[in-house]
Amino acid sequence: MSQSVSDALNTRMSTRAFLDTPVSEDELRAVLEDARRAASGGNLQPWKVVVVAGEARQRVIDAVSKKLAENPFDDEAAFPVYPEKLWEPYRSRRYELGEDMYALMGVPREDKAARLNWLMQNYQFFGAPVGLFFVIDERMNPNQWAHLGMFMMSLALAAQDRGLASCFQEAWTPHCKTVGEALGVESPDQVYCGMALGHADPDAPVNQLRAKRAAVDEIARFEGF
Ligand SMILES: Cc1cc2nc3c(=O)[nH]c(=O)nc-3n(C[C@H](O)[C@H](O)[C@H](O)COP(=O)(O)O)c2cc1C
Repeated sequence: MSQSVSDALNTRMSTRAFLDTPVSEDELRAVLEDARRAASGGNLQPWKVVVVAGEARQRVIDAVSKKLAENPFDDEAAFPVYPEKLWEPYRSRRYELGEDMYALMGVPREDKAARLNWLMQNYQFFGAPVGLFFVIDERMNPNQWAHLGMFMMSLALAAQDRGLASCFQEAWTPHCKTVGEALGVESPDQVYCGMALGHADPDAPVNQLRAKRAAVDEIARFEGF
């Protein structure tokens, strides 16, 4: 394929239903070849990634399923995924995303069981044949975490360019130690979050979601033009 960067940016979206079409190690290596070109302060490249398919993918799913069954609210992350009480405009953005997503799937607000069921799909990689886990050295500062994010986005765009769909998954973050143990990630390395990767199911209603964005004038200020 090869799209313009602008095309890749505008067509990439979080895919939450996948076909079981496998993705080869060669394809994933090609994606990583591109993604590793992401910039980082001091060229530290403060990122690592564990790519899982087959038995390794299942091992993570099983380990986290077991933890969820035994102790669903145990948060293993160094800090909570979101600030304790989100404020505006972030609160409304998050709320709207959820409402738009469940509306597409025909899940009403009151149907807590269906919503929970849906959230649990995260722990099956939404059916994607490949999972990725982003890893960072726990001694790094917020600065390097930002650069890990740049690597992650580069990877999503490189995948998009090759016709592969993805969804970042912080759903794994509260279970980061369990995931790390299942995959042999050892301190000082720690798992940050996951990603589902594969071929999008074009018929799944959830994949019609086009998450909104704030207008340029809401996020940018131009001076001196
Ligand atoms: C670091 C990160 C973690 C995310 N974790 C999840 C997740 O656990 N489950 C999920 O369904 N979406 C997750 N998302 C997807 C966001 O909801 C999505 O990126 C946002 O709504 C914008 O939509 P878009 O990616 O389709 O443009 C995550 C996104 C990022 C960047």
